[in-house]
Amino acid sequence: MSMTNIKRIAISTGGGDAPGLNAVIRAVVLASIQRGWECYGIREGYNGLLTPELYPDGGVFLLTRASVAGITHLGGTILGTTNRGNPIQFPIEQPDGSIIEVDRSDELVEKFHAAGLDALITVGGDGSLSIGYALARKGLRVVGVPKTIDNDLDRTFMTFGFDTAVSFATECLDRLHTTATSHRRIMVVEVMGRYAGWIALHTGIAGNADVVLIPEIPYDIEKVAESIRGRDRGGRGYSIVVVAEGAMPKGGDVSVLGKAVGQAEKLGGVGDKVARQLEELTGKESRTVVLGHLLRGGSPTSFDRLVAFRFGAAAVRALDEGQSSVMVSLAPPTVRYEPLKEAVRRMKLVALDSDTVETAREIGICFGD
Ligand code: F6P
Repeated sequence: MSMTNIKRIAISTGGGDAPGLNAVIRAVVLASIQRGWECYGIREGYNGLLTPELYPDGGVFLLTRASVAGITHLGGTILGTTNRGNPIQFPIEQPDGSIIEVDRSDELVEKFHAAGLDALITVGGDGSLSIGYALARKGLRVVGVPKTIDNDLDRTFMTFGFDTAVSFATECLDRLHTTATSHRRIMVVEVMGRYAGWIALHTGIAGNADVVLIPEIPYDIEKVAESIRGRDRGGRGYSIVVVAEGAMPKGGDVSVLGKAVGQAEKLGGVGDKVARQLEELTGKESRTVVLGHLLRGGSPTSFDRLVAFRFGAAAVRALDEGQSSVMVSLAPPTVRYEPLKEAVRRMKLVALDSDTVETAREIGICFGD
């Protein structure tokens, strides 16, 4: 039996999209309908509430059984998303073209209540969940669902989207092996992951990379070159190097492409840098492949679909139990709830003493350290 007086809830997806978002939306909508609640979708983060004039079909709209039919296997999000619509640092263009950040969170809470909404399910990464926590502190009933292909969210064993990204990147490595072997080349593959090396590490092991460079282990390019020379002396002739976009040399910095007001740092470029240096140091032909946003697309794996469904249903269950300011978390074999406050406190990085890193070393993967 329901322990709350909830009748209408809203769901919002924020930050970068990740495969599995649509499955979360489907689970949330169906679990709400089953309780006799209405579930509304807010378009593009909170923009549907803050700038409704941009949406001729409504910035907030009722999600029905029909709206969520046949979407489980689709990448992206039917609600749209943005990493520019942070209500606490909302970007406003000035007459001179410059952009300033304005705190519109009080206005958002007002608009949320004015729309007759009782509770919010926010699906997002650290940015969106921090916003969710701020809104909860302003009195909104909020449950967070952790999402990111990067797997860098703390207080959950894994996020959905990660498995799909790693599966696709692994397939790419399989394809690159044959061309690398045929040409006796170095193939450098740059993968996303922000300041954490999860995607690079898991892809590198699953896809049989020879070198994996991650932010958690700053690399010495000479050590990487030596491991490639060693492979050549052993007759291998080719090498596959997986580089996380946030990887950095010892004593150096991450490679940043740019930073716009109201947005996170845009990482990228380290793959090319590593390829150029390795070509110089080893005399071998090197090529770079940047997988980039390809990792965010495609159909979610069955693992990600299941986690997404479990997260969506658990988020509705949490609201029904009267919980707020919590994040749904995967704690195998079950899901549980973690305080949002704790969940957004820090980033989850690869633990250097984990058996996964140990395994990588034991099967001969070089980390450049
Ligand atoms: O957080 C997901 C992610 O894909 C990161 O891996 C990457 O650094 C970032 O988003 C890219 O963001 P954008 O889509 O704004 O280029």
